[in-house]
Amino acid sequence: MSGAKKRDLLSLADLTSEELQGLLDLALALKREPAPSARLRGKSLALVFEKPSLRTRVSFDVAMYQLGGHALYLGAEEVGFGKREPLSDMARTLSRYVDGIVARTFAHKTVEELARHATVPVINGLSDQEHPCQALADVLTILECKGRLKGLQVAFVGDGNNVANSLCLACAMLGVQFRAASPRGFQSPSQVALRANDLARQSGAQVSFLIDPRAAVRGADVVYTDVWTSMGQEAEAERRRQAFAAYQVNEELLALAKPDAIVMHDLPAHRGEEITGEAIEGPQSVVFHQAENRLHAQKAVLVTLLAR
Ligand code: CP
Ligand code: NVA
Repeated sequence: MSGAKKRDLLSLADLTSEELQGLLDLALALKREPAPSARLRGKSLALVFEKPSLRTRVSFDVAMYQLGGHALYLGAEEVGFGKREPLSDMARTLSRYVDGIVARTFAHKTVEELARHATVPVINGLSDQEHPCQALADVLTILECKGRLKGLQVAFVGDGNNVANSLCLACAMLGVQFRAASPRGFQSPSQVALRANDLARQSGAQVSFLIDPRAAVRGADVVYTDVWTSMGQEAEAERRRQAFAAYQVNEELLALAKPDAIVMHDLPAHRGEEITGEAIEGPQSVVFHQAENRLHAQKAVLVTLLAR
């Protein structure tokens, strides 16, 4: 990421594949670097979150501390997200105090509007459409576990949601084969599929959106799942439990993947729904390695966007 203008990270597709590769390289270097460093000395980051978080909030806060800077958390009850004052005023005011903003929002257009009005970089810490920081940590984890990315086969089983969308775009950009399996009506939106197909054509990857979870998982190097009901969809939980009943990552499904396949989940997980306790606690699971990598991947993002 370069250029004089401030850069935001709202979608994984805001990055070129070279920039994405550069972030992975930097994340690996930062992971080895003793902390705290002075890379972001004197810099402040605001975390403005409309919905709950453990990993995103803590990893950004600790990342800023370890880079010599400072983070402050503001929940929805403080900032109001358009209820207490217009989003444009919130973005412009925050820009006078801090050097970057991480926003976790319900609607993707909220994070877009914040970015439009902020004069400092805005990072999407999860919206209803995307979770780019998660996808960065995910591909970093796959790279570390498998020693390469190109040509690997990633199977995503479950809802075509924010996590699936960003992961799909990251895989498409990096030459990783991506197969999603979701029930009819729960697949990634067509604009994500179209974008991913474009990116895949350039990288040599293949992206497919299937219905059958067995077809997606057969021969996979990575089996990934996420909750069936995302934050904000709680009223649909029962309907979703029924629709996704055949999409559980369990021992039987995992047996179709390569014997050395890794099991991934962005967390929080609902054991007994999208994944069994055996699968998430089993020897193939890398979910806490993945959670740790949020810290390293986000440090790379912060150093790239804020140290300018
Ligand atoms: N995976 C993830 O984003 O977790 P949190 O919701 O706890 O931040
Ligand atoms: N898809 C989930 C991810 C949580 C980190 C959600 O949006 O709730």
